[in-house]
Amino acid sequence: MSTFKGLFITKNQEWVNELHSLLHDVNIEITVVSEWKRSFQEQQLNHYIFVDLEYVRDTQPFQNSSSVVIGLTESNDFVQGRSWLVSGAKDVVIFPEEKNRLRDLIKNTYQQLKFQKETETGFGTGQVHAFYSAKGGSGKTLLAALSAQSLSIHHEKKVLLVDLNAQFGNIEVLFGSQPFRSYYDLIPVMEEMDIRHLQNIAHYHEDTKVTLITGPADPAKAESIPDELISRLIRIARNQYDYILLDLPSNINNLTFTGLNESTHIHYVLTPDSLGMRAYKYADDLFKRFQIGRGNELSILINRHHSKSELTKNDIEKIIDRETTGLIPSDYFSIQPSLNMGEAFYKRKKDKGSNKVSKEVKKYVDELTKRTKG
Ligand SMILES: Nc1ncnc2c1ncn2[C@@H]1O[C@H](COP(=O)(O)OP(=O)(O)OP(=O)(O)O)[C@@H](O)[C@H]1O
Ligand SMILES: [Mg+2]
Repeated sequence: MSTFKGLFITKNQEWVNELHSLLHDVNIEITVVSEWKRSFQEQQLNHYIFVDLEYVRDTQPFQNSSSVVIGLTESNDFVQGRSWLVSGAKDVVIFPEEKNRLRDLIKNTYQQLKFQKETETGFGTGQVHAFYSAKGGSGKTLLAALSAQSLSIHHEKKVLLVDLNAQFGNIEVLFGSQPFRSYYDLIPVMEEMDIRHLQNIAHYHEDTKVTLITGPADPAKAESIPDELISRLIRIARNQYDYILLDLPSNINNLTFTGLNESTHIHYVLTPDSLGMRAYKYADDLFKRFQIGRGNELSILINRHHSKSELTKNDIEKIIDRETTGLIPSDYFSIQPSLNMGEAFYKRKKDKGSNKVSKEVKKYVDELTKRTKG
C-alpha cells in the first residue's frame, strides 16, 4: 500500500485525535507541528498539509504548494475560507462538524495521488536526447540549450533540460538564472521519487517555458550522486515531458554512462578539426564496446564550422564513414552578447534566431522533430 506524508499544523490535540480517527482506510503518516516553518517545504515533501486556520492566518507560504492543502476551521468564516481557496487550498472544512466531508475528501485525493504515483513509476514516452562529445568545449551545452529552447518555442513541446555536468555545468547561465537546487537534493527521496520531487528542485524558465534541472556546484557532492538517481529522474520525467535533453560532460563517468544509456537519441557534437576527429574515434570505439547509440540513435552534429575549417563536411563523412545530420557555423561575435546577457535565443514562435548559430539550430531541430516523430 502506498504511504503518503501529511503535515498537520495545529496546537489542538483533540483535533489531532479526530483527524487520526478519519485515516483508517488510507495510509497517511501525519506529522504534527505547532507552527509553520519554511524548512518544512524544503526538507521533505508532504503530500498533504492540514492547516488549523484558528492558528495559521497567513496563506502565503501555501501558495503554489505541490501538496494537497486542506484548511480546518471551527467557524464558518466566508472571507477566510475564500482567501484560502484562492491561494490554492483544495478545500476548507468546518471541523469537526463536517468530519464526513473531510473523510471523503481525503479518500478521493488519496485515490488520485495513488493513481498518479502508479502511472509515474511506469515508463513514459518522452524522448531522451543526449548531447555528447568526447572533446571538451565543442558546444554541447550551447547546442543542448538552444535545442531545448527551439523545441519549446517553435514546436510547443514540453521540455526538460538536465545538466549532468555534476560540476561546472553552468547551463543556468545560458538561461540567465541564479543557481538553484539540484538533483543532489533528491538523494533523500530517491526511493519514493515522483514528479513532484522533480518539480521541487527544478527551475522553470518563464521566457522559454523550458524546465531546468542542474547538478550540485560542490564537486564533493557531485561524486556521491548514485547512478540510479539519474536513471529514475529520467524515467519519471519521461511521463511528463515530451523531450528530455541531457547536457553531458566530455569525460566518461557514471553519470555520463547513465545518461547515454537512458537516452533514446545521442547527438554527437563534432568539431571539424583533428582533435575533434580523434575524440570522435575514441568515443566511437567506446560506444561500440558498450553498445551505445546503435541504429539510428546516433546523429553526428558538426559544430563551429567556418570557411577555413581544417576539414569539410565531405572530408568528415569520408573519414568516419557515415553521414552527418547537421552543420552549425562558428559565430563567436554575434553569439557572445546574448550569452553574456543570459537572454533567450527565441522568444516567439516566429523568431528564427538572430545569429547564424541559432538559425541553424532551429533548422536542425525542425528536421529532428520530423525524423523522430511517432
Ligand atoms: N557554433 C559556435 N559558434 C560560436 N561559439 C560557439 C559555438 N559553439 C560553442 N561556442 C562557444 O564555445 C564555448 C564552449 O561551448 P560549450 O560550453 O557549449 O561547450 P561544451 O562542449 O559544453 O564544453 P564543456 O566540455 O566544457 O562542457 C562557449 O563559449 C560557447 O558559447
Ligand atoms: Mg558543457
